[in-house]
Amino acid sequence: MSIVSRKKNHIQICLREDVQSEIPSGFDDYRLEHKALPETDFADISLETEFLGRKISAPVLISSMTGGPDDGNRINHVLLEAANELKIPFAFGSLRVFIEELSLGKIEKPRKIAPDIPILANLGAVQLNYRFTRDSCLYAVEITEADALYLHLNPLQEVFQVSGNTNFSGLLPKIETLCKDFPVPILIKEVGSGISASDARRLTDAGVSMIDVAGAGGTSWVKVETIADGRPETADLAAPFFDWGISTAQCIEAIHLQYPDIRLIASGGITNGVEVWKALLLGAELAGIARPLLKPALNGTAATVAFLTTIINQTRIAKFVSEKIVKVGQF
Ligand SMILES: Cc1cc2nc3c(=O)[nH]c(=O)nc-3n(C[C@H](O)[C@H](O)[C@H](O)COP(=O)(O)O)c2cc1C
Repeated sequence: MSIVSRKKNHIQICLREDVQSEIPSGFDDYRLEHKALPETDFADISLETEFLGRKISAPVLISSMTGGPDDGNRINHVLLEAANELKIPFAFGSLRVFIEELSLGKIEKPRKIAPDIPILANLGAVQLNYRFTRDSCLYAVEITEADALYLHLNPLQEVFQVSGNTNFSGLLPKIETLCKDFPVPILIKEVGSGISASDARRLTDAGVSMIDVAGAGGTSWVKVETIADGRPETADLAAPFFDWGISTAQCIEAIHLQYPDIRLIASGGITNGVEVWKALLLGAELAGIARPLLKPALNGTAATVAFLTTIINQTRIAKFVSEKIVKVGQF
């Protein structure tokens, strides 16, 4: 199957099938302590911050789903318009197809749609073991006019993907070399299984700017690939991995407690602004959302803006009435 067909299939599976991880994102294990005396005007509650040197209105990131082409381009066009209207960051999905199948041509220039929001290019880090070079990474950044490169680590997904790229040996030194003089920051993300504190430390010591834990509790890529594969023997093999991974809340808490200097993005199963606020109080600088945005994106820019506005407003309300997060049972 070509990369283009596989990516199209992934989107359809994510829209139609049950691909929810069998473990929760972990945010229900925490409560926000209510503040009856906020001593501030709700109208003054702002979520404005900076990311990749650009001002954003809220620390909510539209996370990687597609690089294009076809359906992917249409989805990205809508997501970019929504990100621009709300002044929040946007991440492309994997751009591998544009590097391996150049005949597909270049993507629509994102800066025409979104001139001043943070934009992230995306590639699988494992491709560094499959002939991708520094130039491939630069090309991905160039065609997307991006402020940063988001490399994803997805060993479990590659194992269950038909003809997946499973050679993850010696990747860390390659990431380190790439980080040394790359012209934009390099961030690392998982795709829904999480990143441990020790892996986060090794990656940041290698020069990675930020870690997006992309933890368990949202989209399960084992489920997506198992459905894409379709063979009963793959389903049998994969079943014990439907609840695999470190939950998003657990990743953020563990990394932040052990290594408070590591800059974090929380994603994986984030569905509302209370969870965004919990993620920020646990130590993340931003919260990323992927699959919940697919349906709104297919319904157009207004639907996507409305969906994200609700999440941003929920975050503002949560910030108004809470500044402390407590583990359930420790109230
Ligand atoms: C349709 C779809 C395509 C995705 N493609 C990519 C990708 O190309 N690169 C990547 O780093 N992550 C990709 N992801 C993973 C997401 O960025 C995210 O890490 C993961 O889905 C967990 O977030 P969620 O629970 O909000 O979906 C994709 C997710 C979805 C739903």
